[in-house]
Amino acid sequence: MNWPGILEKYQEFLPITDKTPLVSLKEGNTPLIKGQNLSEELGINIYFKYEGLNPTGSFKDRGMVMAVAKAVEEGSTAIMCASTGNTSAAAAAYAARCGLTCSVVIPEGNIALGKLAQALIYGAKVIAIKGNFDDALNIVRSITEKNPITLVNSLNPYRIEGQTSSAYEICDVLGDAPDYLAIPVGNAGNITAYWRGFKRYQDAGRSKNLPQMIGFQAEGASPIVQDKIVENPETIATAIRIGNPASWEKAVQAADESKGFIKAVTDEEILAAQRLLASREGVFAEPASAASLAGVLKQHQEGFFEKGSTVVCVLTGNGLKDPNTAIKQVSEPYSVPADEDAVLSIVNGK
Ligand code: F0G
Repeated sequence: MNWPGILEKYQEFLPITDKTPLVSLKEGNTPLIKGQNLSEELGINIYFKYEGLNPTGSFKDRGMVMAVAKAVEEGSTAIMCASTGNTSAAAAAYAARCGLTCSVVIPEGNIALGKLAQALIYGAKVIAIKGNFDDALNIVRSITEKNPITLVNSLNPYRIEGQTSSAYEICDVLGDAPDYLAIPVGNAGNITAYWRGFKRYQDAGRSKNLPQMIGFQAEGASPIVQDKIVENPETIATAIRIGNPASWEKAVQAADESKGFIKAVTDEEILAAQRLLASREGVFAEPASAASLAGVLKQHQEGFFEKGSTVVCVLTGNGLKDPNTAIKQVSEPYSVPADEDAVLSIVNGK
């Protein structure tokens, strides 16, 4: 099948009119990869929704294609967002595709290298502030309220709509919703989108069940878990280094309605899960994404999952986005003379 992109594929479930351009970089249709080794070890059926294989390497493409298509439909010529990196990469790419100007505001020094490279090469105006994501979001909200520029953060309702598409894909592949949907939580738009998507698919008779939504924040950036704004969020998972999420209430509602929860995982647990995923399953996800697996491992240790349950972990972004964090965790490459024996001694070594 020639995959048409999410706007065409799921148009009956999305806010598309005859005037909406069916913009596409062939986003969506990302693989649902069975974690063969981990499933066996844990006694549950664990799947990874590998959103890192979207065109700009994260789930943000799903919401951005929808938001940009609507911006074009409404005659906008400029878009803007605050970002920890992935939203800015997606905004910049779809703006380039549609001939819009794009400005992105990012927290200086706290965005992964790959994401910065993307926003720059796609031709966005990249503005780094001496502040965090929450500061950046306040600034772009205010600017876009007063100027003819479309805000493409997840406060833009079309972003969340586009992101519902991943829930449809999961149901299409599994034949129904999973028992559990494990997902990292930052600005809290994605957990909101998945829950809406699962409910909408069920209402349309396309799936029978609803999953329990289990969300995970990084401990140092866990306002929802602590039930209070975190003024200075800190985590190695820079994508979710957010202290005052825009979709806070909706995320809590998704967790409550689905009889799930939102809990915290530590940076150590996130990094351990990232390494485990790569070294045991051959799947490389960025640290924020590994929060979903970290949470599942923690819950499993506490005996939370019934044997044989189906658990989908959303891996929101590609590991290649943040090479520095990956490299820092492992030993340096071996350095030896250009000599066969020297190389072989390493190959055979312990
Ligand atoms: N995982 C990754 C890789 C992300 O980039 C984000 C958010 C999340 C998880 C959390 O999703 O915000 O919907 O709860 N990144 C935003 C950005 C904030 O600017 O790229 P959420």
